[in-house]
Amino acid sequence: MKAIEIRNKYLNFFKNHGHVVIPSAPVVPENDPSVLFTTAGMQPLVPYLLGQKHPAGTRLTDFQKCVRTNDIDEVGDNRHLTYFEMLGNWSLGDYFKDESIAMSYEFLTKELGIAPEKLSVTCFAGDEDCERDNVSFEAWKRAGIPEERIYFFGKDDNWWIAGEEGPCGPDTEMFYDTGKPKCSENCNPSCSCGKYVEIWNNVFMEFYKDKNGYSKLEQKNVDTGLGLERMTMLLQGKETPFEIELFAPVMDKLKELQSVDNIESRRIIAEHLRSSMMIINDGARPSNVDRGYVLRRLLRRMTRHLSKLGIDLSKLPDIIDISISSLEELYPELNTNREQIKNVIIEEKDKFMRTLQNGEKEFEKVVSKTKNAGKTVIDTNIVFNLYETYGFPPEMTEELAKEQGLSVDLSDYQKLFKEHQDKSRMGMDQKFKGGLASSGEMETKYHTATHLLNAALKVVLGEHVHQKGSNITAERMRFDFSHGAKMTDEEKKKAEDLVNEYIKMDIPVEKMEMAKEDAINMGAEAMFLDKYGDVVTVYKIGDVSLELCGGPHVTSTGKLGHFKIKKEEASSAGVRRIKAILE
Ligand code: SER
Repeated sequence: MKAIEIRNKYLNFFKNHGHVVIPSAPVVPENDPSVLFTTAGMQPLVPYLLGQKHPAGTRLTDFQKCVRTNDIDEVGDNRHLTYFEMLGNWSLGDYFKDESIAMSYEFLTKELGIAPEKLSVTCFAGDEDCERDNVSFEAWKRAGIPEERIYFFGKDDNWWIAGEEGPCGPDTEMFYDTGKPKCSENCNPSCSCGKYVEIWNNVFMEFYKDKNGYSKLEQKNVDTGLGLERMTMLLQGKETPFEIELFAPVMDKLKELQSVDNIESRRIIAEHLRSSMMIINDGARPSNVDRGYVLRRLLRRMTRHLSKLGIDLSKLPDIIDISISSLEELYPELNTNREQIKNVIIEEKDKFMRTLQNGEKEFEKVVSKTKNAGKTVIDTNIVFNLYETYGFPPEMTEELAKEQGLSVDLSDYQKLFKEHQDKSRMGMDQKFKGGLASSGEMETKYHTATHLLNAALKVVLGEHVHQKGSNITAERMRFDFSHGAKMTDEEKKKAEDLVNEYIKMDIPVEKMEMAKEDAINMGAEAMFLDKYGDVVTVYKIGDVSLELCGGPHVTSTGKLGHFKIKKEEASSAGVRRIKAILE
């Protein structure tokens, strides 16, 4: 069974069980600079897990494009991926454990044809925050899993939360028995020896965790996640995801082109290329911060390993084409944006090659210094510095040193590297945490201010003004809109005054759900029309504004305080950008 068939079966199965299929959110979250990437199917659904009404109802299913980069340095082994697709189904206060477990069992055994004896499951053992999950235990027995293959574990294994704060709860996890022998008498699904592979996680989200501890959510939700690549691999009887149709053609091509054999390098190239393409396709570009930095790391690591295999970098466009051919059935957008994706990758490759050239000069200095000091070994710190500052991988430094009759001291390298890694990991955890908690009071106010500014600009500049982008943090808002000329001081003042007038009028902000067609007929503003489903959420602010939007918003404009434009500048051709604050 190919990945696309598994995805289709999944979505159809849940559709037949009353779920509405919703589109994948982009892997680069919109309007939310506090989150690096979409890391789970539940992430775009957080407001709805917390109780907001979803326009598509209480039973949802989708495939979600996900990027998790915490383990970027593990890629190359037989399982880690930075990009993966997560199939998911959600109950937003609808069904709970019994029905969720019955559906999972039916899907695995009937739709995918997995032999029941291949399945083991785990449930939450209970602690001071939440009771033992006997309901799931009974549901699994009823479904057909014998008691001896139902295990209980504590929070470390059977509790799910994204980051430190947010909706969470006990989960039940499904494992596939690969048939390998037990690694010890006590070998069980929580063991990492490779006998049991986790295939699906059903989280029973009825709690919310914050710094004060756990509290109950308004509604009991189910959030499930099934990794597409892993399932495809198991059903195809493969040992690693790199052998399935999404990677195999690139892996083969790399083997054909290489002059040095190294399977880890081939995996890194195939994986990082796919991940980078998905990230670029959803709008990020290489840079030195945040998402752009992660993308840069992925592309540079890929380039480095191409060189390591002795592959001529002029072959990169062909490798990209092969990767797109194996992925376009799942993601037709890669084909549509092929040229753009290629350009970004090749430009970054060229930049990296120039960086390496600069590093070589530094390396030469290191060599002469070492030799002049009468030493034959290059210090760990220097090796690490070459990596950190010039992107020189230690294995490359070692190779170059050898040519100069020198060796390298790597004794402390791992320690330095780990410190560096921990630092960047901490940064990422911070990001994720911030993201889920990011619809705070200020962000909510800025969301509403964005609608008011959009409306005011139409009055001041004309009806040609439409939103082209927006970016909100707790400190400020940024709003991009279509307009051909620099705004005059007078225009800026007028727009600012008008927004403040709307605020003073304390107009109620009404949220409505309606058919997309009706919303359009009513003249609602919408930035990306085809991204929404047939039923849309619309926010109406008196006669001032009507916009398609997921929210959140304040209940009336009087809550915003004083609006002030800080800056007006060009964003791109025909697009202006306003930075503004609420005081
Ligand atoms: N949120 C859970 C996970 O990411 C289930 O979807 O595993």
